Amino acid sequence: MFESLLPAPPDPILGLTEAFKEDPNPAKINLGTGIYTDDNGKTPTLDCISRSEKILAEKSTSGGGYLPMTGLAEYDRSVVELLFGADHEMVQSGRALAAQTPGGTGGLRVAADFIARTNPGAKLWMSNPTWANHNGIFTAAGLELGTYPYYDQESRTLAFDEMVTALKNVPAGDVVLFHACCHNPSGMDPSPAQWEELAELAAAQGFLPLFDFAYQGFGEGLVEDAFGLRAFAAKGIELLVASSFSKNFGLYNQRVGAMTVVAGAAEAAQNAMSHVKLCIRTNYSNPPAHGARLVATVLADAELRTIWEQDVATMRNRINSMRRLFVETMAAKTDKADFSFVATQRGMFSFSGLSKEQVLEIREKHSVYIVGSGRISIAGITSANIEPLCNALASVL
Ligand code: LMR
Repeated sequence: MFESLLPAPPDPILGLTEAFKEDPNPAKINLGTGIYTDDNGKTPTLDCISRSEKILAEKSTSGGGYLPMTGLAEYDRSVVELLFGADHEMVQSGRALAAQTPGGTGGLRVAADFIARTNPGAKLWMSNPTWANHNGIFTAAGLELGTYPYYDQESRTLAFDEMVTALKNVPAGDVVLFHACCHNPSGMDPSPAQWEELAELAAAQGFLPLFDFAYQGFGEGLVEDAFGLRAFAAKGIELLVASSFSKNFGLYNQRVGAMTVVAGAAEAAQNAMSHVKLCIRTNYSNPPAHGARLVATVLADAELRTIWEQDVATMRNRINSMRRLFVETMAAKTDKADFSFVATQRGMFSFSGLSKEQVLEIREKHSVYIVGSGRISIAGITSANIEPLCNALASVL
């Protein structure tokens, strides 16, 4: 069976990491996958996680049976509180319920399977551009896909009017995928006023919003970054959220995520969860425990939670200072392109504007790894690699 198989194409993001690892050049620079590094180029274990590890080690939590299909109950509860605020009526009434999933990708796939199961005719609308893996996840679940305009490559701004015009044609029952903050790959988010307008549109149109929330805290702050989905929730509409804690807890390899259902009433949320459970059962049965225990321990402890909030602010501030440094350094090296837009964008990513050919050239000649779309991970820039990086970029413009 396998003899006739041709190799599948490498994943546009994770495949690049494989190529980076094989590159023997000691001066290589990885701005491909969105992984936070500190200024020494290392992906740190957050202080709050080291302390959480110690607490768990003392409790010796590794034994025991399976977790429930929806994961650790205390973790699920803290996910919903983080999304909407602990005092929110939706949280108190139980009409917002989360299921722990293996990472944000797991959350998206569970959401996709849930949509395909409960609303099989629904079409799912994604921003153009979007995270390269969205297409694969939703296609694998058998959903029909469409796109709406999002980013204007020429002006480097949000194509808001075009987006609204397109969303006005999305019928009730279809699903619209939004990036809750730190849009991946463009780094451009709607303003609070624009989120309000989109929420009104969703209420009027009757489409189901699905939020991909992978970077909470990396934009403006943990609460500020939830503005968009909270604006939708305030309209009383149903929604889905896929959360990831890979980035904001630095738990990339523990696969800690969630899929949250917000329904009109607690009973409807529980009924929806019964379908979510079946999607989980036929996929991976139940999630792994350790990463979720680490997160739940931090979020339940006032001191650890404060440390975590500081850790997130440190990561956010470092990325933003690298954005400014990048703009200044490029401006000093070349007048062939204006990169000032990079300082106004948020989260890990921006589009460099490099073509596929330039991306390839910079990789072959300088071992600088950038995703084919020209997306750069600002979180991989350091004060040590900024000079060689900008020299390499300027040389291919
Ligand atoms: C990225 O976009 O680089 C990250 O979300 C990591 C991934 O899985 O692609």
